[in-house]
Amino acid sequence: MAKPHLVPQSSSKPTMVASYARYHSDTAVSQYCDAHYGPDKFGVANFSKKMVQLCVAELEGKPQRRALDLGCAVGRSSFELATHFDQVTGIDFSSRFINIASRIQRHGRIRYQLPEEGDITSDHEVLLADHNLSETASKVTFYQGNVRCLETRFCDYDLVLAANLIDRYPEPRKFLAGIHQRLVIGGLLAIASPYNWLEHYTPHKQWLGGRFRAGTPLTSLEGLSKKLSKHFTMIGDPQEVEFVIRETARMFQHCISQVTLWRRVR
Ligand SMILES: C[S@@+](CC[C@H](N)C(=O)[O-])C[C@H]1O[C@@H](n2cnc3c(N)ncnc32)[C@H](O)[C@@H]1O
Repeated sequence: MAKPHLVPQSSSKPTMVASYARYHSDTAVSQYCDAHYGPDKFGVANFSKKMVQLCVAELEGKPQRRALDLGCAVGRSSFELATHFDQVTGIDFSSRFINIASRIQRHGRIRYQLPEEGDITSDHEVLLADHNLSETASKVTFYQGNVRCLETRFCDYDLVLAANLIDRYPEPRKFLAGIHQRLVIGGLLAIASPYNWLEHYTPHKQWLGGRFRAGTPLTSLEGLSKKLSKHFTMIGDPQEVEFVIRETARMFQHCISQVTLWRRVR
């Protein structure tokens, strides 16, 4: 009998809150498989690939040993990072996403279905080799885990990528207050977010911005800067990176994440 394949588990608590259920659904699986590995849409380049290009350009001439991809979903940015870094850790709360990422790594391919219209679906297959990612894929280790209670051994990274995570996270302030502990001094933190704050994921008082403080509007960028300034300096200006999520053959979400890069200085 074939041995079951075990995905390493970090020390996440075995509870799942309702807001995370979305990332276990069939809809989420097809949307993220397509967003990560499917064709570009409306001329918008692959978001995960673009994010890694921005990070690597900033790290040119600096150590590229270890990278941590928090909220890696079905793994595209982790595989992209592995083409540059010696070791990559991809962590996501969704066991479904992590199992898919691990299966892609094992088999070098992914098959998924997309809704076309109504009950009609289409079948798709993508090879890691199609994206020139198969040679380096073994450098990635995927873990199912909760970033809120990540073990201390996940540290000493040259890069931490948190792509589209903070506005889907219950305690973004706490996350930002502790994230320096995962990086070496001089390491890079890359945060991307469309700042689409929803109470379903993040209680209102935890929002980094997109709200009023003493009658004055507070932007998420201001909130981010305030929280990170103790340990980081921002590199360059914020950048806008688009992504498209396909819902059906004729329905798409077009999102624009703001990307900020931060160097750990203390
Ligand atoms: C909006 S998706 C972004 C996925 C991917 N980074 C991207 O940009 O395509 C947010 C991801 O973060 C994961 N996530 C949310 N909260 C998390 C937590 N506390 N710990 C680990 N992963 C989490 C979700 O399961 C989901 O895969």
